[in-house]
Amino acid sequence: MTPPRARILVVDDDRAVRSALRVNLKKAGYEVRLVSSAEEAIEALAEREVDLVVSDVKMPGRGGMALLEELREHRPETRVIMMTGHGNVEDAVTAMKQGASDYIIKPISKNELLLVIQRALRERALLAEVKQLRAEVKERFGFENIIGATPSIQRVFELVGAVAASSAIVLLTGPTGTGKELFSRAVHYRSPRRDGPFIAINCAALPQSLLESELFGHEKGAFTGAIRQHRGKFEQADGGTLLLDELGEVPLSTQVRLLRVLESGELQRVGGSETIKIDVRVVAATNRDLRAEVKAGRFREDLFYRLNVFHIPIPSLSERRDDIPLLVEHFLEKYSKRHKRSVQRIAPAAMSRLMGHLWPGNIRELEHVIERGVILCQGAEVTDVLLPETEPELALEAGLLPAGQTLTDALAETERRLIVESLKLDKGVQARAARRLGISRSNLNYRIQKLGIIVKDVVYE
Ligand SMILES: Nc1ncnc2c1ncn2[C@@H]1O[C@H](COP(=O)(O)OP(=O)(O)OP(=O)(O)O)[C@@H](O)[C@H]1O
Ligand SMILES: [Mg+2]
Repeated sequence: MTPPRARILVVDDDRAVRSALRVNLKKAGYEVRLVSSAEEAIEALAEREVDLVVSDVKMPGRGGMALLEELREHRPETRVIMMTGHGNVEDAVTAMKQGASDYIIKPISKNELLLVIQRALRERALLAEVKQLRAEVKERFGFENIIGATPSIQRVFELVGAVAASSAIVLLTGPTGTGKELFSRAVHYRSPRRDGPFIAINCAALPQSLLESELFGHEKGAFTGAIRQHRGKFEQADGGTLLLDELGEVPLSTQVRLLRVLESGELQRVGGSETIKIDVRVVAATNRDLRAEVKAGRFREDLFYRLNVFHIPIPSLSERRDDIPLLVEHFLEKYSKRHKRSVQRIAPAAMSRLMGHLWPGNIRELEHVIERGVILCQGAEVTDVLLPETEPELALEAGLLPAGQTLTDALAETERRLIVESLKLDKGVQARAARRLGISRSNLNYRIQKLGIIVKDVVYE
């Protein structure tokens, strides 16, 4: 497929220049339109976009500089080349400063003209590519790559979809690896703010003083080391969305400050007195139970209510096991592509192990398991998966057998733990431990032998 011909608009009040350009540009294969003033150029552009404008500087009416300014403001992707007379090189310099791609000095040399035009068009193609990539990034953070068909996660999609359009604060909660960050991006990219910035700050990663200056910014000299003014995340997110990640970790005194900013829509940088208005949509994420944190005195009740306007709890993976096959398929495809493998599927036995696993690390954990499976896979089928060991206690609590254990193993493990604990409590006196366990002394002794427990070791360990 041949690329579409680039369209060029020539703006010059000198008829001779116009026709010379027309001949040369057409010969070079471009589509050309000619006008004789900035005003006409603006009209022509309103009718039809062009890739490149080649304009004289000095013309009756608004002139070339005004046209350049207009284009920079309203059509930033259109490239502009300015033409100036021999005696007016300063004009060319000014034009470059104001965003022209290039300039040509009259009288025009045909070769130079074509070279300059090619360069500007390449620049334009690059810009278009960047724009396209940005659009793809946005798409990635819509719902397109968030997988889930079970009702509990569909409910999350619904809630995110419903709240995105507003500017309400959103509170996302859920255990680690359930997609809080993913959904917070979806809130942004499905909102009218999608063209604004999406900024995230991990509140758990910073000590308090740094956290405040990261959130609210600081003035030069606000503290030792503040060698220049710094705009905080709130300011950086102006016009967009700010994710306050791991919000449950914010210290109480910073919570006060945060609440004030959320309520007033204004802030002062650390060490500053100027009040700065901000227009930021806040999404907060945490894996803590904030209500419990409030009860425990670690989270301010007023801030909690402020954040709890639109709460979206995200279910853990073990609450939606039926999504595992879908997720597995998604990650197989993703990592097969990334690691240049030709993995198509997973063996049924491996899948049933995945279905039976507890997934304390949720989707992040599943994703890693599949990635590793893909990397180790030689053919088209992942035949086995390496599951991280789940804490046996956690597994038993969830009614699952710990990885790699049979019921007999799990019972023996529980039996051993109960006996060891009783022996410890009773300082190794077996008669008392037996009473505590509700069995005879000889029965206890039999079990100690069977399990290979060495009494004096466990008592003094
Ligand atoms: N529904 C989903 N579909 C596809 N991928 C998902 C889904 N949910 C989460 N993931 C993937 O799992 C990983 C963890 O997700 P994310 O970082 O959003 O979790 P989180 O809840 O913020 O975890 P943490 O509390 O540990 O920060 C990411 O790689 C993300 O792309
Ligand atoms: Mg996260």
